Amino acid sequence: MVQVTQSSKVVVLTGAGISAESGIKTFRASDGLWENHAIEDVATPYAWERDPELVWNFYQGRRNQLQDVEPNPAHRALVTLEKFLGENFLLVTQNVDDLHSKAGSKNLIHMHGELRILRCEECHETFDMMEQEHLTSEYVPCPSCHSQRLRPHIVWFHEMPLQMSEIYAAVEECDVFMTIGTSGHVYPAAGLIDVAKQAGAHCIGINLEPPMNYDQHDEFHQGKAGELLPDFVEQIIS
Ligand code: OAD
Repeated sequence: MVQVTQSSKVVVLTGAGISAESGIKTFRASDGLWENHAIEDVATPYAWERDPELVWNFYQGRRNQLQDVEPNPAHRALVTLEKFLGENFLLVTQNVDDLHSKAGSKNLIHMHGELRILRCEECHETFDMMEQEHLTSEYVPCPSCHSQRLRPHIVWFHEMPLQMSEIYAAVEECDVFMTIGTSGHVYPAAGLIDVAKQAGAHCIGINLEPPMNYDQHDEFHQGKAGELLPDFVEQIIS
């Protein structure tokens, strides 16, 4: 098992699996549906154009769910790792929930956006809006330019993930790259491990099942993140 010192540079990529034990459904569950919807019906710009009410209510459901979920031991283990490494740690998540920040992670990039945040399509400002008045089926107008409705600050299919240049810069110079709870289906996230490998990083995976990019990992630990990660972090930093 790899040892991490305080000068090691570590990038961690998380996906839906890390929040599964907190009660949030993963994307690629066996029924192929996300909370009873086909992903293309709710997670594309075309869906928002065609049926904004359906998309709005779907995301309002996900936003409301945030009030009922708590971080699990896997989220907290990554806070321990960040406290040990300080600035040498970067957490990149594909998740749109707020469980990493709720647990206390600081150096964190939400590459697929955040449920907490709404964005104006006219003036492009973003707003953290989680008061009860922002969580109903009524559209929320833009407080800045007063356009009629904000959209979810979510990276939908066919849209560009966020902060990719910062992510690539960190992955290109990391010593250890970890993937946790991600199936390796969705690019560019699934390709970050290739960049890490090219940079000579040691690549570790923790997942319930072998992911699509299993072969790229130098070390793979199969099981639930909430059960494996706390001990794993203690071992690599001791
Ligand atoms: P997926 O739903 O594709 O994969 C979740 C992975 O987590 C699967 O490989 C599961 O086996 C694993 N898993 C489930 N429970 C686990 C547990 N308790 N511990 C560890 N692993 C567990 O989710 P992502 O890979 O995150 O994109 O999906 C990537 C992107 O596809 C999402 O960010 C989203 C989606 O479409 C956008 O919204 C743009």
